Amino acid sequence: MQQTYFMIKPEIVAAGDQKIGAILDIVNKAGFRITALHMRQLDRDFVENFYGEHKERPFFGDLCDYITSGPVVTIRMERENAVAALRELIGATNPEEAAIGTIRDLYGESLSNNAVHASANTDDALRELGLFFG
Ligand code: CMP
Repeated sequence: MQQTYFMIKPEIVAAGDQKIGAILDIVNKAGFRITALHMRQLDRDFVENFYGEHKERPFFGDLCDYITSGPVVTIRMERENAVAALRELIGATNPEEAAIGTIRDLYGESLSNNAVHASANTDDALRELGLFFG
């Protein structure tokens, strides 16, 4: 059993419980078990650290503004091969390139407003779960 970090981004949370529920239903049907979940307003310093690997990228400021623009849902989940399985389930970063039926295909609006985040690899999962769940 492996753990991974999953986050539902502000535009989905702002759209209301129905979209949050629909996304959680997709991950549940894919065999993930939620072991911790919070709705939280993240502060700027925390997000700059969380997305630190993108610090030199031109979109970093906008990314941090956006993720702090409203509450997000932060989730710890487990499943066999959870990290790779969740990345496949959410689809490509850019919703326009996401495979049909993936979460970003169904719910993503744009590269910046792409509905959800999932840890990219097992090292990131450990780091991100440590940041959000201690
Ligand atoms: P996420 O998986 O949360 O990881 C970093 C985020 O940065 C990514 O989703 C996108 O929302 C955002 N992102 C990645 N590349 C770009 C880009 N070229 N322009 C704007 N935002 C980006």
